[in-house]
Amino acid sequence: MKEILVLYYSQHGAVRQMAQLLARGIEQAQGVTARVRTVPKVSTVCEATELRVPDAGAPYAELKDLQECAGLALGSPTRFGNMAAPLKYFLDSTSELWLSGALNGKPAAVFTSTGTLHGGQETTLISMMLPLLHHGMLIVGLPYTEPQLISTESGGTPYGASHVAGITGDRPVTDEERKLCIALGRRLADIASKL
Ligand SMILES: Cc1cc2nc3c(=O)[nH]c(=O)nc-3n(C[C@H](O)[C@H](O)[C@H](O)COP(=O)(O)O)c2cc1C
Repeated sequence: MKEILVLYYSQHGAVRQMAQLLARGIEQAQGVTARVRTVPKVSTVCEATELRVPDAGAPYAELKDLQECAGLALGSPTRFGNMAAPLKYFLDSTSELWLSGALNGKPAAVFTSTGTLHGGQETTLISMMLPLLHHGMLIVGLPYTEPQLISTESGGTPYGASHVAGITGDRPVTDEERKLCIALGRRLADIASKL
């Protein structure tokens, strides 16, 4: 059974909800399962070790999760048009995987949530692709054959799945956003199963 790592950071739950939808799409593919992991917050004491299992939600990711996966779905809230520091901090710890080429040739997709409609979803998604390209990963986007990419009035981009959570973070995931999250997970898993 091939596993796709769904690796995300979420402070208020929007990206976590998207991660679950991507995992649902991944599990629709034949012979592929999802391994969902998160990363701890960073702070001025970020060198302190955290417990391996957080109080709630997915376990914290380890390098072996990346090594063992057949593909990767990477999710982050948009922070000033960029990925959130905790996810970048974790990615910055992956030098040994880069040196060994452990991720080279594996497919990867990205997803994000913003407060506002034009708050930088595309720039965040592209910022998340950059380290993955350095690792030699094959970036998987969303094609316009997904009808929701045309009909959406909130999230959903060809660069990856997205959600507009609203300025207070309480805007529910729309039907289009939900279907595009599932479609991206499914597409990633279908490709991983063929490689
Ligand atoms: C420090 C910080 C920076 C943010 N920057 C942006 C931004 O550039 N554009 C935007 O639309 N929303 C921005 N937001 C809002 C978050 O992207 C949004 O609330 C997101 O849905 C949070 O995801 P989560 O619920 O998974 O934590 C920012 C939030 C914080 C805390």
